Amino acid sequence: MTTRTLLLLPGDGIGPEAMAEVRKIIAYMNAERGAGFTTDEGLVGGCAYDAHGAAISEGDMEKALAADAVLFGAVGGPKWDAVPYEVRPEAGLLRLRKDLKLFANLRPAICYPALASASSLKPELVEGLDILIVRELTGGVYFGEPKEIIDLGNGQKRGIDTQVYDTYEIERIAGVAFELARTRRNRVCSMEKRNVMKSGVLWNQVVTETHKRSYSDVQLDHMLADAGGMQLVRAPKQFDVIVTDNLFGDMLSDVAAMLTGSLGMLPSASLGAPDPKTGKRKALYEPVHGSAPDIAGKGIANPIAMIASFAMCLRYSFNLVEDADRLEQAIAEVLDSGIRTGDIMAEGCRQVGTAEMGDAILTAFRKHYA
Ligand code: IPM
Ligand code: MG
Repeated sequence: MTTRTLLLLPGDGIGPEAMAEVRKIIAYMNAERGAGFTTDEGLVGGCAYDAHGAAISEGDMEKALAADAVLFGAVGGPKWDAVPYEVRPEAGLLRLRKDLKLFANLRPAICYPALASASSLKPELVEGLDILIVRELTGGVYFGEPKEIIDLGNGQKRGIDTQVYDTYEIERIAGVAFELARTRRNRVCSMEKRNVMKSGVLWNQVVTETHKRSYSDVQLDHMLADAGGMQLVRAPKQFDVIVTDNLFGDMLSDVAAMLTGSLGMLPSASLGAPDPKTGKRKALYEPVHGSAPDIAGKGIANPIAMIASFAMCLRYSFNLVEDADRLEQAIAEVLDSGIRTGDIMAEGCRQVGTAEMGDAILTAFRKHYA
């Protein structure tokens, strides 16, 4: 029988509640579909700091490096606001991204028909929305050196972050965007700030050259990132694939998330390069929403982004495309049936908690195999 190894890192806040709903789906797929998932578990974020004094332990890092895929919940919360910067909860996530070399972050923003009216935009602007943000994830200002606060000795300090991109980093993320565009509507929009930033000038050049060299069948446009943000809320359906750097991708993906009705809806996949020998990629799957400490522990969080992240895991790590399609359809069906968590609640719908939403999705998923 196939074995497929998963490391679960539920993390803090609503992470564990959302992860519990994915566990139910894994258990079903193992018991009745012979999926052969073996799961291990670890700590990341504030809970890891409490247990080990680090945002992720060396032991858990080793497990992450060895697993076929990592499922990640969320990290952070006010409890850890004062911990040293190096061991703050987010450092665990950033280390995972860096050490696993997960340079390609895929953030699809899909507006489920049933949720068009939950968006902050007019329903006609978001109905049928299907965009994919491809965010560079291991470079740019997130990791560039120097990164420090220095004392100028005159009563002033200076905070420094460094935005830096090398040719190969831009080439490989552009390649991912073009490849994915070919499986969709064949259009890529690249966003940077070439009018202000040297890294933006290089980004624009390298994307243009990569396109010319290997992907001229794909339609390529360029937009300044600020204008891109404006266009995302003005007419989001003009986009197919957006490719952008680490920081712009962070911001633009939160904007895109809200278009779909709720931050609680957006999954993501973070992928490394395929191993030249095995063809396998290291991968981590995480909901775009954070730990939402204000609602943690209440059983009311929306587990859909976490479940949809698992669907992306089925698709990209295990090539279980049909199962991924069915799980995504199950989510759409449950929403169509009027079941809602509080964040996406609408008139005439039935409000449920985290576990009931997870159960409803599992029931719908099972029906696809009946
Ligand atoms: C995200 C988050 C992270 C980021 C944080 C938690 C470090 O906002 O995944 O979008 O900034 O990348
Ligand atoms: Mg973010």
